[in-house]
Amino acid sequence: SASPEEPPDNAKSLGELRRQAEGCRRCPLWQDATQTVFGEGPENARIVFVGEQPGDQEDIAGKPFVGPAGKVFDEVIEEAGIERQKLYVTNAVKHFKFEPRGKRRIHQKPNAGEVKACRWWLDQELGFIKPDLAVAMGATAAQSLLGKAVPVTKMRGTIVTRDDGLPIFLTIHPSFILRIREAAEAQAERERFLADMRQVKQLA
Ligand code: URA
Repeated sequence: SASPEEPPDNAKSLGELRRQAEGCRRCPLWQDATQTVFGEGPENARIVFVGEQPGDQEDIAGKPFVGPAGKVFDEVIEEAGIERQKLYVTNAVKHFKFEPRGKRRIHQKPNAGEVKACRWWLDQELGFIKPDLAVAMGATAAQSLLGKAVPVTKMRGTIVTRDDGLPIFLTIHPSFILRIREAAEAQAERERFLADMRQVKQLA
């Protein structure tokens, strides 16, 4: 239900939506984060990429996918022949959720309520952009885009079409590659992510 802190549901442009999101109080995550990290990219993008939530570096920069996961993302899409500047890149959740540990801020997975609260913004981003395809990177993005839990490791490389007709391409989150300790295994996972991105390139 509407409360005084909720932004009005009347953005007339993506820019106005972005400004509204700066003051978002729809869940408690704004309290500890530096700023809202909204999506970035051209409004006429044909593909929207969706991650989980900003990390430590994104929280500080105010831009999505500029940290270690963003580096993997940039390298792999470039290898697949996808130009990042033509994409709209955003996250399911737009504030960094973390636990302080000494001087470090350790990423925490957003819960279902936080993902649901933030769908308000993602739905409207998609409404302005009207892409041909959305790419869900990881389970949180898939949950947000499809409104239900999806086994992304099993279903990666496939498309699920939403009731509104938007095709959702499923893949893993690039930070999954970074968490693999064993080098050969990490390399193999990176190759699988590259194969997925080559498929996305074909769909574009
Ligand atoms: N991981 C994400 O899901 N999104 C970012 O913007 C950065 C890291």
